[in-house]
Amino acid sequence: MMTSEPSHKKNKASQKPFGFKNVDTHDKLELVKGVFSRVAKSYDFMNDVMSFGMHRHWKNELIQMLRPRGGMHLLDMAGGTGDIALRFLKSTESFAEKSKVTVCDYNQDMLDEGRRKALNKGIITGIDWVQIDAADLSKFSNDTFDAYTISFGLRNVTEIEKALTEAYRVLKPGGQFFCMEFSKVTSEPLEKLYNFYSFKMIPKMGEVIAKDKEAYDYLVESISRFPNQEVLAAMIKKAGFQSVTWCDLNKGIVAIHSAIKL
Ligand SMILES: C[S@@+](CC[C@H](N)C(=O)[O-])C[C@H]1O[C@@H](n2cnc3c(N)ncnc32)[C@H](O)[C@@H]1O
Repeated sequence: MMTSEPSHKKNKASQKPFGFKNVDTHDKLELVKGVFSRVAKSYDFMNDVMSFGMHRHWKNELIQMLRPRGGMHLLDMAGGTGDIALRFLKSTESFAEKSKVTVCDYNQDMLDEGRRKALNKGIITGIDWVQIDAADLSKFSNDTFDAYTISFGLRNVTEIEKALTEAYRVLKPGGQFFCMEFSKVTSEPLEKLYNFYSFKMIPKMGEVIAKDKEAYDYLVESISRFPNQEVLAAMIKKAGFQSVTWCDLNKGIVAIHSAIKL
């Protein structure tokens, strides 16, 4: 006779962190979608305010590490309002061979903001906007892209392991993978200050400026539950990548992991 697993056990196995709560996989997808739909319009402004403009420097660092070149096709996953994609296109302008970027995001409201921003900058070619879940890139063939970036996105993805395996599949051999994410602060005094700022100030700022304390509670909680540098590196390796390494920015407030598909 077949015995089935008790339902409470099944539920536990399929649960995913959402802030400090655990929720079902499907519920997490919808909750995260809700958070970003609510903040889409104020997203860019809030990034500047909350990071004191530092996110611009972090994003420039990522582009430098990517070493953009002519003819490159980048997949920018969880690309949201297009900050990485637009920087990438700007940095490849001088090459004779045109480069292109496919911006993927699960949330149409974030993509719409990105498309609007690109149009305002006069950018209409070399960029595609695709609504898709990072964990299912079946729309793209194997070995399609020269590089894959995911900036402040992986922490929000429901099925991180699947997303990493899909990133590996759609990259060409020799393709580069970059993940920029909030990480484990490596200096104790800074960590104390950072925790105070994150847990006490950011939700307040979210409440006052974006009128959405919950969304910013989620931001802070999701950061504190995200794997540290070593654990994330092991997950990237497990997805098949080689030469996995990372560099800490501002003592680990942010880390950029990089890897290669051989
Ligand atoms: C914090 S924003 C980052 C946006 C942009 N990459 C940046 O650096 O400013 C996180 C983005 O991840 C997207 N996202 C969350 N879960 C996703 C998933 N499963 N698949 C694709 N995108 C997802 C959200 O919609 C949101 O646009």
